[in-house]
Amino acid sequence: MVNYKEEISKIIAGQVSELSEEDALELVEIPQDPAMGDYAFPCFRLAKLLRKSPQSIAADIAQAIADRPLFEKVEQVNAYVNMFLSKEMYTRSTLEDAMDGENFGKTNVGDGKLVIVEYSSPNIAKPFHIGHIRSTVIGNSINLIYRALGYKVRRLNHVGDYGTQFGKMIVAYRHWGNEQDVKDNPITTLLGYYTKFHVEAEKHPELDDEARKAFADLEKGQEEEVKLWKWFREESMKEFNRVYKMLDIEFDEVDGESFYSDKMQRFIDELKEKGLLEESRGAQIVDLEEYGMPPALITKSDGSTLYCTRDIATAVYRKETYDFYKNIYVVASQQNLYFQQWMKVVELLGYDWVKDCIHVPFGMVSLEDGTMSTRAGRVVFLEDVLNKAVEKTREIIAEKNPAADEAFIDDVAHQVGIGAVIFQELSNNKIKDYVFKWDKVLNFDGETGPYVQYTHARCASVLRKAGEETVAKAWNLDDVDFSYLNSDSAYALTRLLYALPQTVVEAGEKFEPSIITRHIVNIAQAYNRFYHDEHILSENEEERVAKVALTIAAKNGIRNGLALLGMKAPERM
Ligand code: ARG
Repeated sequence: MVNYKEEISKIIAGQVSELSEEDALELVEIPQDPAMGDYAFPCFRLAKLLRKSPQSIAADIAQAIADRPLFEKVEQVNAYVNMFLSKEMYTRSTLEDAMDGENFGKTNVGDGKLVIVEYSSPNIAKPFHIGHIRSTVIGNSINLIYRALGYKVRRLNHVGDYGTQFGKMIVAYRHWGNEQDVKDNPITTLLGYYTKFHVEAEKHPELDDEARKAFADLEKGQEEEVKLWKWFREESMKEFNRVYKMLDIEFDEVDGESFYSDKMQRFIDELKEKGLLEESRGAQIVDLEEYGMPPALITKSDGSTLYCTRDIATAVYRKETYDFYKNIYVVASQQNLYFQQWMKVVELLGYDWVKDCIHVPFGMVSLEDGTMSTRAGRVVFLEDVLNKAVEKTREIIAEKNPAADEAFIDDVAHQVGIGAVIFQELSNNKIKDYVFKWDKVLNFDGETGPYVQYTHARCASVLRKAGEETVAKAWNLDDVDFSYLNSDSAYALTRLLYALPQTVVEAGEKFEPSIITRHIVNIAQAYNRFYHDEHILSENEEERVAKVALTIAAKNGIRNGLALLGMKAPERM
């Protein structure tokens, strides 16, 4: 990839001895309005340094660099040097990159460093509701983005499979459970037991003692409790795995909280030794008042450990096992304070690498009809949402392709229906709360997944119509006459394609897949403008080959962008 910003910084720094290349690099901008050039250099800062008017500095620089082969035109406008790149050179280099198949968009800024991305992390025996989809989908995309940046990524699912609630579940099962029901419908059934437990415990408080004992026995490793708990876990995982399969999502490790059950004592001892542990109403806490936070709970009065205790052990285990460069947690913003608390405790223990543990928060999703809350018992299973999306898409696809066979419709309905949900998830800045609306998700003309996928299929259709010979010539850029790609709509598209790799870098730095979502919507819109404005399959062979080359580049850009979100790019739809 030619880095024009760097090239330009070098040229400008070469003209002005007072300016370093790095400073120039910081100043060079890409103007919003293409009429102001591909790149612009503001001279305000130099004006102070050189005690000259910024206009005259801009004029001097513009004149000095105007005849470089890199530029078609250089203009001084007020305090700015506006630079227009030589279009054919720019288009050629961009298309060369774009023809590099699946590598287009990738860079190696990560240089093989190891990054952990923890995502999904649902709770056993609780439904995987539409709120959980965010962690799963955002986390998966962050994983894909970091891979594309040349990092090694370890994908972890920190399943919530431990804690006092399992005592309650065990007791509930013993009183009212039925093996077959659990097997048939694990999560709904187990959740039902859990709800029933709370209702009954209101009337019979002794149930709470029973549950505490059951959890204590589980922690001690009593055979019967462990067996039941393992079974609940297995059955629940079967359901989660079905959803992961639909989403095409995998993990390298699915060690839940229970994995750390024997790794916590060490920190409790360490905290004690360092004088950080205090007793408060029988519980052990770390006081965080000094840092403006409520205390971190380490053990309960009955000695049992907590969510927080397990997160401390987990972070240290990950550092010792993987020596990560970054350890990323994709977890809802409701847990912001909680993450600050436990990270503070890790810091107080003296582990300065905690600065490399990053909580990537996201806002809440609600449904149009207001359903969301698990606690209210009105749960929406992600699986239902996905199935509904596939069904609705199937209808649309069947209508658009009346002659198509069942298998084709089925395949596309999956790719587009599930993709639509993923895309919607990743469209908004992740910290914003948003309302999930079916009409918006499945709109083929809006800024949606189906729209972008449809544009990909449109590119594929243009290539089919162009025929193999033209396509082969277009792939081999040697024979392409780039002067046919100088129009505004072609050039606007080229500029967006050029920016793709940098967009991926930015999305990685900000942990923000929506930057990619936005960018591929822009590419799709630019392609559609090009498609409407110009006659791509021209009778003039040279023109046709050039325009088909740009179509291949756009197709590669869209496909690779979709892949970073965890989506498929259908050839027909
Ligand atoms: N299971 C938790 C929940 O559903 C999320 C776990 C987040 N990860 C962590 N390391 N605490 O709320």
